[in-house]
Amino acid sequence: MRIISIINLKGGCAKTTTAVSMAELLATRHGKRVLLLDNDKQGNASRLYKRYSQGSRQGAQNMIRSRSVSGNIMDTGIEGLSLIPCNYYMEQAALEILKDPSTRQHDRYREALGQAAEDYDYCIIDNPPDIGINVVNALIASQEVIIPINLDNYSIDGLEMLVGQVVSIRRLNPDMKLAGCLVTDYERSATSEAAEEWIRARPQFKLFKQHIRHSRQAKDATFYHQSVITHSVRSGAAQDYKKFVEEYLGRAGDGI
Ligand SMILES: Nc1ncnc2c1ncn2[C@@H]1O[C@H](COP(=O)(O)OP(=O)(O)OP(=O)(O)O)[C@@H](O)[C@H]1O
Ligand SMILES: [Mg+2]
Repeated sequence: MRIISIINLKGGCAKTTTAVSMAELLATRHGKRVLLLDNDKQGNASRLYKRYSQGSRQGAQNMIRSRSVSGNIMDTGIEGLSLIPCNYYMEQAALEILKDPSTRQHDRYREALGQAAEDYDYCIIDNPPDIGINVVNALIASQEVIIPINLDNYSIDGLEMLVGQVVSIRRLNPDMKLAGCLVTDYERSATSEAAEEWIRARPQFKLFKQHIRHSRQAKDATFYHQSVITHSVRSGAAQDYKKFVEEYLGRAGDGI
């Protein structure tokens, strides 16, 4: 099972949209067995599959406590795609772990996901916009990282630092590679073209050729609690995600 973290410490740059689109496309178009791990207490990915339950202990929050996938994997209604959901109990679970320095803190997801290694081809992790113990666990379990970015100046300013932080996790997880940065919610303008060129000229960012266009349907989809792939497969964003996944599969194994 290949484990891929979708991460950016900035909020709202399409991490969840990218994680669920990639997970659905790998399952439905490429016939892969996919496990989607919602690692965000907001539970946005879980809500898309009607698997968000405020009071439930099952899911990522239980997995990080128990170091076990058992009882935490659910159906999504999409063939080939399973989900480990998340809710606000994640905060409590993370605090409990941090308060107990006598136990190992960083390799809990790695151990748990190892138990599902034979059952899935891919595990896609949707991370929150922060770097708590659950995110460190995700990075230590991951072989690859994909960084979605919006082309505003703040994102570009922070990109070098973010890539540096992600790469620094390699001290703890030497197997982890940056698969690449992905421009999301792209609207064509002279400024965005210049910004994209600026990133492309720096090979350390490994920018994917395919960017994801801004599409009204991507925003509308959240209203219907659907991914953009399920809501409108013909939208520009869905078409671009298809090409992005093809590019990713073509590139696999080539990370820095
Ligand atoms: N290509 C796109 N076109 C239009 N809207 C988009 C696109 N991609 C994402 N969005 C919208 O942008 C908003 C933020 O997206 P998303 O929730 O995926 O970001 P996020 O990085 O996961 O946010 P958070 O940091 O809160 O977890 C959502 O309303 C989503 O529908
Ligand atoms: Mg999100």
